[in-house]
Amino acid sequence: MDAVKVGLLGLGTVGCGTVTVLARNGEEITRRAGRGIRIVQAAARDLDKPRICETTGIELTTDPFAVVNNPDIDIVVELIGGDGLARDLVMQAIDQGKHVVTANKALIAKHGNAIFAAAQEKGVMVAFEAAVAGGIPIIKAIREGLAGNRIEWLAGIINGTGNFILTEMRDKGRDFADVLKEAQELGYAEADPTFDVEGIDAAHKLTILASIAFGIPLQFEATYTEGISNITREDVAYAEELGYRIKHLGLTRRTDAGVELRVHPTLIPERRLIANVDGVMNAVLVMGDAVGPTLYYGAGAGAEPTASAVVADLVDVVRVLTSDPENRVPHLAFQADALSDLPILEMDQVETAYYLRMLAEDRPGVLAEVTRILGDAGISIEAIIQKEPRPGTDKVDIILLTHRVREASMNDAIAAIENLAAIHDKVVRIRMETLGAD
Ligand code: NDP
Ligand code: HSE
Repeated sequence: MDAVKVGLLGLGTVGCGTVTVLARNGEEITRRAGRGIRIVQAAARDLDKPRICETTGIELTTDPFAVVNNPDIDIVVELIGGDGLARDLVMQAIDQGKHVVTANKALIAKHGNAIFAAAQEKGVMVAFEAAVAGGIPIIKAIREGLAGNRIEWLAGIINGTGNFILTEMRDKGRDFADVLKEAQELGYAEADPTFDVEGIDAAHKLTILASIAFGIPLQFEATYTEGISNITREDVAYAEELGYRIKHLGLTRRTDAGVELRVHPTLIPERRLIANVDGVMNAVLVMGDAVGPTLYYGAGAGAEPTASAVVADLVDVVRVLTSDPENRVPHLAFQADALSDLPILEMDQVETAYYLRMLAEDRPGVLAEVTRILGDAGISIEAIIQKEPRPGTDKVDIILLTHRVREASMNDAIAAIENLAAIHDKVVRIRMETLGAD
């Protein structure tokens, strides 16, 4: 049988990784898919740019719509990024009856509901394994491998750039900006790296994971998002002193009141496996009612790890080219007409534990005032440490760990603490999760 013809949009980090992996493993991939997979045309902005892959035999163009409209092409692989042009290209490809593979989480998180509806109507597939956690097959694991479970919650380190930065800052005391520059050079970072450091990329990915886990529509706008740019070396060191690691987590949990959907730096007990996931590696911990906790680990970014997921999607699409559209695995794991309207909780309704750091005057009674405010708000303290005065000042860092409390109560308590005359600067708040089996 003839090879399936693929059109590639983008010849950057992931595009080139895909060309390389398909070429190197072509024979085994054909044996798996049942047919060869051949990239016949590819689009990039600048055809004179040196590429890290071999493009001989691929027709190159600067017009991505020429690829999408090419009648010879069966599958369009979108690796341009962004959610403007990419959306138009993907919608056009679907309209042309072509299957789509994409690594673009921004596109899926923001426009996935419309894209999947169009794909359903046209009977084509839109595969997006590479959009979450790079090379880890987490979409397949949740959508298919855990299909027998009621997923209770999941938590993941789902941005490789952010984890790389936090790890290098902790282990080598490196400067934030310097590590970010290296992540960009290594091809890990988004075109706009604020997506990585401000948590937007992780929020895109968490949005997708929550939909697949709970059978809810994609709701990116409802995701609470905080990045890592305010994490200081002091907080990292104090957390370690208390037996915790700070990780940038995406966390979604089903509660009686609704779904928690949140991305923020989080203290995790250092004994948890996920607390020891370092560098560009990602990990997702999924709690199913039948299987219990399962952990998925692997490279979260980079050319070939991401290409691994893109090529797996290509193989999946090729395998089902002949199958009945009604019986394909649904895009969001649950049948499109069976999605649930569970509400997403506002952040102040969420319950979690906290790490608090405050700069206080070193005099009697200050600690008592702080603990009284917390006590009055019904917040109980798990641990407390007071450091030596900062050099040349009479001010000390006080670090507190609390038990779980509703975010609204913590907001009130922090406001009251910041109003104390003896407290200087803002109170640093980092949420804390034990991620145990309970
Ligand atoms: P790059 O910036 O490395 O590559 C983008 C490619 O798209 C380039 O080849 C660029 O051309 C091409 N391109 C951009 N605009 C146009 C246009 N208007 N017409 C034609 N070609 C265009 O991005 P990545 O490979 O890093 O990322 C691609 C996608 O994969 C993004 O959605 C990203 O979020 C996602 N992703 C990335 C991962 C990673 O590790 N990098 C991991 C997982 C997902 P030119 O080269 O000529 O400039
Ligand atoms: N910029 C992303 C990251 C790429 O660092 O995780 C992988 O999605």
